[in-house]
Amino acid sequence: MLLKTALLLVLVAQVLMLDNGLLRTPPMGWLAWERFRCNTNCDEDPKNCISEWLFMEMADRLVQDGWRDLGYVYLNIDDCWIGGRDASGRLVPDAKRFPHGIAFLADYAHSLGLKLGIYEDMGKLTCMGYPGTTLDKVVQDAQTFAEWKVDMLKLDGCYSTPEERAEGYPKMAAALNATGRPIAFSCSWPAYEGGLPPAVNYSLLAEICNLWRNYDDIQDSWDSVLSILDWFVQHQDILQPVAGPGHWNDPDMLLIGNFGLSLEQAQAQMALWTILAAPLFMSTDLRTMSAQNMNILQNPLIIKINQDPLGIQGRRIRKEKSYIEVFMRPLSNEASALVFFSRRTDMPYRYQSSLAQLNFNRSMTYEAEDVYSGDVISGLRDETNFTVIINPSGVVMWYLYPIKNLEMSQQ
Ligand code: GLA
Repeated sequence: MLLKTALLLVLVAQVLMLDNGLLRTPPMGWLAWERFRCNTNCDEDPKNCISEWLFMEMADRLVQDGWRDLGYVYLNIDDCWIGGRDASGRLVPDAKRFPHGIAFLADYAHSLGLKLGIYEDMGKLTCMGYPGTTLDKVVQDAQTFAEWKVDMLKLDGCYSTPEERAEGYPKMAAALNATGRPIAFSCSWPAYEGGLPPAVNYSLLAEICNLWRNYDDIQDSWDSVLSILDWFVQHQDILQPVAGPGHWNDPDMLLIGNFGLSLEQAQAQMALWTILAAPLFMSTDLRTMSAQNMNILQNPLIIKINQDPLGIQGRRIRKEKSYIEVFMRPLSNEASALVFFSRRTDMPYRYQSSLAQLNFNRSMTYEAEDVYSGDVISGLRDETNFTVIINPSGVVMWYLYPIKNLEMSQQ
């Protein structure tokens, strides 16, 4: 009897687990929501409305401007694509804005070496009021997405009860698994339960979702970036350990290229999100991006750090007075990323420290490459004093690696 029960439990666990092997490093790509919202006014605003044409334009930019080759491969639809359900209950896209259908868009993305993501909502309606996935529709919708050859699903949580979400998210994970198509699963579930235990069970989430939104929606402002950062830091003891290859915390999209951030703030968001091992979903108009913003998002060293194979989320390790903070993320090959962040609003601040003061005690000699300027500082030992000059609401970011280790790995 006991054996039978144990076997049954193993089977249930296997069925419920999302076993797709995807997203061993945080996903990178483009997501429509923050920049393009629910603009369905294609008559008056044809270039910016949510339509297959917008996604094809962004797909073309992802390829032609070098994004795809740097890893930005996901082209993700958000809310407001749904037209309704047909007589058999199957989801159909808005016929006017997606006349060729989602399978066509997926083929287009795949033909360019990209992946297509789609959006639905575990509930009666999506957040913008389009038909949602109720419990009885979960399996059918998973099958529809798989037939369309979709590669990622963001499942939102508006218009449902906590009980419906507790049943629906694991059910969707199992249904996606059962399609046999590897579909990355982005769950907004924790954001609807306050983001913290005991209401949120992060071990369960890590088994059924590849990434999850923990907290509020990002808006196009520095205040919004700070409020998200503050929440993630405040709860880092809970959030840091639950991230890892295949299962990531998602502090929401990058604003870089939009209207709300200065250049320093854009560099800061990219650096801080990278410390957090966050998904890098741009949500901006790739057709009009400035060279400066492109340089931030296409910085090869910062992408390498974000995509580090160990997949360890970083932490804030220091807070000096109320305005200087230091973040650290451990990386493979005994390297680390350091971010020196200033909340000052007056002038560039000269911050003095040493690796020893930042809890380094490995008695090695390091080299630090400044991620944004490319400057290299050599011969850093634990006790060496250094000064970094941090601009107001800006960062200095270092890729720090031991020299001994580098020599050894080259032998
Ligand atoms: C919620 C989500 C956002 C976006 C909108 C769409 O607010 O958190 O990311 O998907 O819904 O309506």
